[in-house]
Amino acid sequence: SEITYVMIKPDGVQRGLVGEIISRFEKKGFKLVQLKMMKVTKEVAEEHYKDLKDKPFFPDLIGYILSGPVVGMVWEGQGVVKAARKIIGATNPLEAEPGTIRGDLAVQTGRNVVHGSDSPENGERETALWFSGHGIVEWEAHMKPWLVE
Ligand code: GTP
Ligand code: MG
Repeated sequence: SEITYVMIKPDGVQRGLVGEIISRFEKKGFKLVQLKMMKVTKEVAEEHYKDLKDKPFFPDLIGYILSGPVVGMVWEGQGVVKAARKIIGATNPLEAEPGTIRGDLAVQTGRNVVHGSDSPENGERETALWFSGHGIVEWEAHMKPWLVE
């Protein structure tokens, strides 16, 4: 079923927001199927954001992502890609709605604490990239009948 790659960026880790961010996806009812604290390499960061390589802010973006450890995770569920983007909020935290992660916890686009895949295809691509072929953990979530009829 559908998966999305969510990553707590270095500012989110340094600001002690890891638990808060994971909690929002957990409480919503999505299933955590992969999780890792990691030091990012330039190669992986550039591959992850390759669609933005011609943007003027690309060097700053890569510097930001390399500035400290990140927490990468994969969440699974029906419609999870779009729903995760809603939970995360708009790219510019000043335009993100209150109640979203960026709307509640960040102020600047260049320090917007979290990433979420923008399509199911990218959810698969980014999971393969960041978890380099380790795949996801398959497990049965016993709360499922309490979430979906
Ligand atoms: P991600 O979930 O991180 O992919 O963010 P997004 O999908 O909301 O935005 P997008 O993919 O367009 O940009 C990726 C990231 O690049 C953003 O989350 C920001 O961290 C950064 N970024 C985008 N636009 C700017 C900008 O104008 N200036 C700076 N400094 N960073 C930017
Ligand atoms: Mg994006």
